[in-house]
Amino acid sequence: MSTTGTTGPSMSGATSTGTMHQGRTTSLPGFDPSAPLLEVSDLNVRFPTEDGLVHAVRGVDYSLRSGEVLGIVGESGSGKSVTSLAVMGLLPGSARVTGSIKYRGQELLGQSDRSMSRVRGKGVSMIFQDPMTSLDPVYKVGAQIEETLRIHDKQLSSKAAEARAVELLELVGIPNAVDRVHSYPHEFSGGMRQRVVIAIAMANQPEVIIADEPTTALDVTVQAQILEVLQTALHETGAAMVMITHDLGVVAGIADRVLVMYAGRPVEIGSVEDIYYEPRMPYTLGLLGSLPRLDSATRERLTPIKGAPPSVVNMPPGCPFAPRCPLHIDECDEAEPERFQVGPGHTAACIRTAEVAAAHGHAADIFSESADDRDLGTTPAPAGVALAADDLDGDGPAVPPGDQTAPRAGAEDAGTQSVVSAPPRPTNGDRA
Ligand SMILES: Nc1ncnc2c1ncn2[C@@H]1O[C@H](COP(=O)(O)OP(=O)(O)OP(=O)(O)O)[C@@H](O)[C@H]1O
Ligand code: SF4
Ligand SMILES: [Mg+2]
Repeated sequence: MSTTGTTGPSMSGATSTGTMHQGRTTSLPGFDPSAPLLEVSDLNVRFPTEDGLVHAVRGVDYSLRSGEVLGIVGESGSGKSVTSLAVMGLLPGSARVTGSIKYRGQELLGQSDRSMSRVRGKGVSMIFQDPMTSLDPVYKVGAQIEETLRIHDKQLSSKAAEARAVELLELVGIPNAVDRVHSYPHEFSGGMRQRVVIAIAMANQPEVIIADEPTTALDVTVQAQILEVLQTALHETGAAMVMITHDLGVVAGIADRVLVMYAGRPVEIGSVEDIYYEPRMPYTLGLLGSLPRLDSATRERLTPIKGAPPSVVNMPPGCPFAPRCPLHIDECDEAEPERFQVGPGHTAACIRTAEVAAAHGHAADIFSESADDRDLGTTPAPAGVALAADDLDGDGPAVPPGDQTAPRAGAEDAGTQSVVSAPPRPTNGDRA
C-alpha cells in the first residue's frame, strides 16, 4: 500500500515473528483447498418493505484469490454493505437471499448461525465502519480480544490469551499495550478504537478480511494510519481482503482489483490500473471525474455526476445509469446491459464502451464541468498548488476541456453529487 502516513504507527514493539498461520474452516460440506478462496455468484438480496420489494443486491459476482485485495466502490445505497453482510450471514431474517457464496468450495448460503459462527472470525472476519458498534463499551478491550480468541480455541489459557491480546495490540500500533489491554473502549480515541477492531479481526488469522468503510468515520490523517495498520494485518495474517469504500482514492492505494457497484449491481470490474486509467463504464469515469487527480499533467476541472442513483424498488427496464449518463441513447432504455468483456479480466456493463474508451479516463471529455468549477477555473490557484508548465500565470488552461456531448435533457437541473473525495495513489505508470 502506498499510503504516505508519515505519522503512522510504529510497529517496532511488535513481538510477532512473521506471517501467522492462516485460519481454516474446513468443517462445512464441500471443502476444497484448491477452490477459490471466496466465490460469490449471482447473489441477489431482496427486502420486503411497505413500499414494495427492495432489490438491494442484483446479481453480484466476484471471486477473491488468496492474498488479493478487492476494492468495492459505489455510492451510498449501492448495495456494498448488504453484499458483505450476506457473505457473513449477518442479514436480518426478513432478507430473501439467492445465489451462491462459496468459501473454499463450502457453500455459506443457507448455513445455520451455528455453522456460520465457525466461519466468522477464523475463515472470514469483518471490520465495520464505526468501531463503537463493534466494541462492547462495558468490557475492557483485552477481554474482548481474548473472547474472540477463545471462540476458536477453547483450550487457550487466560495467560496465553492475554499475552496474545497484548501482541495483537502491539501489532496494530497501540503504545504501552501491556497496560492498555486493561482499558475500556471509551478510554481510546476513534483511531485507536479502530486499531482495536482490526486487532480483533486479525486475532484468529482469518483467510479473508472484509473491511466495510473502515476509515470513513476518521479524519484524513488517521485514515492514512489505519490503512497502514490494515496493510500490517494483511501481512501478518496473509489474508485476502475485500475493501469497501465510497472513496476511489482509498482503493487506489490498497487494491489489486476494483469492483464498481451501481444500483445493487457490479457495473465494472477490472484491475486497479484498468479502473483508473482505462475505465469503460461511464459511471466509473464519472467517479474519476469527481476526484481531484494529483497525477494529472494538466490542471483538470472536477466533473461531478449529476442526479442521484435510482430507487431499487420496481426498477424500470433499461440501463439504471441512463438518467445520469451523458452518452445515453435510446437503445440504452431497451434492456439493462450485461457486463461485456472489454479486456483481460476487465468487464463493463455498457453498450457504448468504445466511446468511453476514447476518453482514456478523462472524464471532462464526456461529463460536463459544473458551474462552480467553471468559476474556479478563472481564479488563480491557491498558493502552493502546482500548475501545469503551460499555465504558469495561474489563469487556467487556454482552452477549457471539451464538452463534447450534451447532457440528457432534464439532467441540467439535477443536483450534483461528488462521490469520491481523496486523490488516488496510482500504483504504476502514467496515463496514456
Ligand atoms: N434491512 C433492510 N431493509 C430494507 N432495505 C434495506 C435493508 N438494508 C439495506 N437496505 C437497502 O438496501 C440498499 C443497499 O444498502 P447498503 O447498506 O448495502 O448500501 P451501501 O452501498 O453499503 O451504502 P453506504 O455507502 O451508505 O453504506 C439501500 O437501498 C438500503 O436502503
Ligand atoms: S448503457 Fe447507455 S445509459 Fe448505460 S452507461 Fe452505457 S451509454 Fe450510459
Ligand atoms: Mg454500507
